[in-house]
Parts: sequence; C-alpha cells; structure tokens
Amino acid sequence: MNLISFDSLSNTNEYLIDLSKKGANSWTVIHAKTQLKGKGFAGNEWKVTAGENLTFSFLLKTSYTFQNLIYFNEWISNVICSYLMQFSSKSNVKWPNDIILNDKKVCGILIENYRSNQEMHSIVGIGLNINQTDFNHLPKASSIRNVTDKEYDIQEILSELMQEFQNQYSILEEKNFDLIHETYLKHLFRKGEVSKFKLNGEITKGIIRDVNNAGNLMIEIDNKLQEFRHKEIELL
Ligand code: BTN
Repeated sequence: MNLISFDSLSNTNEYLIDLSKKGANSWTVIHAKTQLKGKGFAGNEWKVTAGENLTFSFLLKTSYTFQNLIYFNEWISNVICSYLMQFSSKSNVKWPNDIILNDKKVCGILIENYRSNQEMHSIVGIGLNINQTDFNHLPKASSIRNVTDKEYDIQEILSELMQEFQNQYSILEEKNFDLIHETYLKHLFRKGEVSKFKLNGEITKGIIRDVNNAGNLMIEIDNKLQEFRHKEIELL
C-alpha cells in the first residue's frame, strides 16, 4: 500500500484519477483531511467538517469488464460492512451505495472507472463519518462515534480498513461473483421485510428481494417482482 496524505485537496477521487493516468499502481491511497469540492453520489456534494471524518480514495486495477463492475461495487460495500461490524452488528448496505450503522448512514462510496491498456481502473472514493457528533441538518446520518460513544483515531481506522480490503482481495480477484452477491444480500438493508417506498410521488408497500445483475433493485409489490433503477424509487 502506498499512502499519500494531504491536509487539503479539491477531492481525493480526482487527484487519484490524474495519478492513475500517470501510471500509479494498485493500492495507491490518497487521503485528505479536508476536501474543498467533495463529490457525492449522483452529482451531489459531499461535505465534511475538517478533522472529524475520513475521506480517501484508493486505486485498483483489475480484469473486470464494465458488465461485471456491479460485483466490484458489491465487494467494496461488503468489505466496509464487515469492517464496521465491530462497532455494531447492525451494519448494512442501503441500496445502492450507502453504508449504514444502526439504520443511519455513516459512509458514502463513489467509484469512478475507466478502461485503459485492457485493464479496468477503479478509483474507490470513501467518506466515512468517524468522530462527527452534530448531524442536526442530516437526520438520517450518523458516525461511528455517535453509535459507540467513543472517539477514534482516523489514521488508524484508515489503515485497518485498507488491511480489510487487502485481506478480502482474493474474493474479488478470483471473480467469485456468487459469493460476492450472496454476501451483499446478507448485508442488504430491509431485505425480505415489508417496507414503505416512495414511487411516482406515492407511498407504496413492498419487499426488497434482490439486486439483479444490472444493479437494479428487485422489489416484490402486490406479489409481482418489479425492477427499479436508482432515483425511480426511494426507500422510506
Ligand atoms: C455518497 O454520496 O454517498 C458518496 C460520497 C463519497 C465521498 C467520498 S470522500 C472521498 C472521495 N472524494 C470525493 O470527492 N468523494 C469520495
């Protein structure tokens, strides 16, 4: 692992994309205490207070195709969920990419991919809320500190989490898609439970059954299995 730390960066994903185009190796990690223009999922902003949380990106070069990137994404969520189990057994992934502890979001993931020299270059950006306690404007967000009532060393969590990615790397490398998906479904929030969703402006009841190989959520509504893309449906 090659860790490069900054006090401040525009954002760690973009810095690492540039570095990867200049030939950086897999397991290059870019960590920034503050990001000036943090990017969230689906074009959102990712704001963090300096020094309270972990923001970093790491590079993996694989033989994955764009089609099987869904399993790459699932593997990333699986590793984070299994790492976070030590803080709460209620560690889940809320489809598509939110990692939640005790039902509240503590971690966001932004993966950016490009293919070059027959290799997939995946820049995995992770924002993990560690010591932040004030979430007044974000009622559905939390941090490891809020869950456990303890303060943590951010660098230490970064090293441990990267160690976990390295420990579980063989599952990704061997393209053990069945195991990856099975593990993902075990972590999937509200799977098999009757839940409320916002669909076309209305509240609908349904049961999350699966995520298909296009990455879409499969929900049973009125005994029929239906497929939803991100933004088509919101789990309430
Ligand atoms: C989300 O919206 O849930 C995804 C958030 C991803 C944030 C991380 S922080 C490190 C990396 N750099 C960024 O600008 N975004 C990702």
